Amino acid sequence: MCGIVGYVGYKDAESVLTVGLHKLEYRGYDSAGIAVLKDGKIHVRKKAGKIHELERYLVEKNLPKSNIGIAHTRWATHGGVNDTNAHPHLSQNGIFAVVHNGIIDNFSHLKGYLEKQNYHFKSDTDTEVIANLLEYHYLNDRNLTKAILKTVNELEGSFALAILFKEDDDLIIGIRKDSPLIVGLGENENLVASDQVAFLQHTKRAIFMDNGEITLVRRRMVEFMNFSGEPVKKTYVFLNHGDDEAEKGPYPHFMLKEIYEQPKVVMTNYKIYTRNEKPVLLRDLNLRKLLLNKTRIIIEAAGTSYHAGLVGKYLIETFANIPVEVDYSSEFSYRRLAADSRTLVIAISQSGETADTIEGLRNAKRYGLDVLAIVNRPESTIARESDYVIYINAGLEIGVASTKAYIGQVQVLTLLAMELGHIKGLIPDEEVIKMIASMKSLPEKIEKILLLNSHIEHIAEKIYTSDNVMFLGRGLNYPTALEGALKIKEVSYIHAIGYPAGEMKHGPLALVDERLPVVIINPKTSAYELTLSSAHEVRARNGRIISVINENDELMKEVSDYIIYIPEVEEFLTPITSIIPLQLLAYHTAVLRGCDPDKPRNLAKSVTVK
Ligand code: F6R
Repeated sequence: MCGIVGYVGYKDAESVLTVGLHKLEYRGYDSAGIAVLKDGKIHVRKKAGKIHELERYLVEKNLPKSNIGIAHTRWATHGGVNDTNAHPHLSQNGIFAVVHNGIIDNFSHLKGYLEKQNYHFKSDTDTEVIANLLEYHYLNDRNLTKAILKTVNELEGSFALAILFKEDDDLIIGIRKDSPLIVGLGENENLVASDQVAFLQHTKRAIFMDNGEITLVRRRMVEFMNFSGEPVKKTYVFLNHGDDEAEKGPYPHFMLKEIYEQPKVVMTNYKIYTRNEKPVLLRDLNLRKLLLNKTRIIIEAAGTSYHAGLVGKYLIETFANIPVEVDYSSEFSYRRLAADSRTLVIAISQSGETADTIEGLRNAKRYGLDVLAIVNRPESTIARESDYVIYINAGLEIGVASTKAYIGQVQVLTLLAMELGHIKGLIPDEEVIKMIASMKSLPEKIEKILLLNSHIEHIAEKIYTSDNVMFLGRGLNYPTALEGALKIKEVSYIHAIGYPAGEMKHGPLALVDERLPVVIINPKTSAYELTLSSAHEVRARNGRIISVINENDELMKEVSDYIIYIPEVEEFLTPITSIIPLQLLAYHTAVLRGCDPDKPRNLAKSVTVK
């Protein structure tokens, strides 16, 4: 979604900010803009389209050299995609320039009020209201702090803001409410951004703002206060992201790079979450006690994280005998919950900033339920607001389509299910040791699957012109079918459906003909025979079968047109091994269709609107 970066220091602001914007590109956007302050005047350049449109425009219409500025990538919510609606927005008298992530719920009311005070609006955005409201209050008695406090307390909704004030060329105002904002601390320079990738090049010291905080960022000083104007003491953290994490390196796309990073993610989690061949995810005794008291779990998540949740359901029910429901966050957050204190809510989110999932966890809290978060980003809102957090340690995921985070989520849920089963006495010691040993060999097995990259590219050549693709899986690999379908639709724009293999005969079978590629995920599991029957049903209707199966599977081979052989693993690990070829299939299909898999149209990396 939208991205913010602001800079005050000694370097050329325009270049720091345009590089920052490129780093934020992955989040999805449809226009971009930049404002710098020079000699008491704010200069704005903004353009609909990609950042290179803005860069072209900056060549045509130079910005004055300056060491302070703010910039933004916009993902339209209020008002169409055009130059005027792009950020930054100047206040009517050019006193403030504002960039904004989030949505102002009461913007029409505020706009109406300001119009009565002779404010005229150029854009259709809610952001211009913020700029004008701030200016209106400032012009009242020329007290900046008072104007800021008045403004933030009148705004309803979610907002991360970076603001330039034309009367102070050593000040960026940053404000956070329900949308992330981070301050990067440098030497004689400081930055503010909605995502640290925008400033990692300059500094790794960061202060994560909390909700309801305002920061005054200057070259040599950063101050914080709350929405009542009281000073707030903050401490910085050192970001341990590698320099290359936000870079593609030798890979043509982040998506491919991240698919190839999956053995590392699995190894990292194995090292962090196992000791002496046993899972130790529940080292926190309070969490352990809490989980043992729960008789029901509700998982809330969106998209790929929802699919990981479905795998979690199968495994927790199988290993730990606790009933689990999985709900889309967007549904869970708005319904009445029939749950008591013995229900645990698990919120799963890569970014930790998905608005629907945040709302879901707040809804759970309103009902007094305990929330355990499974997230990738430690500093995220979901991590901060949940009672307990388990991290998936996938590192920065830049590609919009989630790949390595999914593997991390599934692995952590697998370990959680296993550990719960073990401490409840349902899985004996020797069995757990065997299971963990299998997990240890997983990175090597994934490496083997990655060697199939060119074979999978050839299969993509056979399907990339199709209009539809069907994915079938059963049991633990039904979520794999859903995730395979989601990946291909996101990045290649081919319509795809994922279905439980056994359910296919109750309707979707009517879709099958010689033109329909049907991907059947059927490694050796307890669902093997039944999935094989479904494969025969597809074959009998001349569907083109692409199968993801284990080596030496003659029965599936007979019905398949194309085969992806994956190494055999224990059933509980098959959701990890079987999704990898489907990620590669989606990736190559997208590239063959000329789509950019890192930045699918209309999508954003973290969906911060409800
Ligand atoms: C799919 C994808 C999205 C996200 C969804 C939830 O590849 O990336 O479906 O999974 O928007 O995002 P998080 O996990 O950040 O809450």
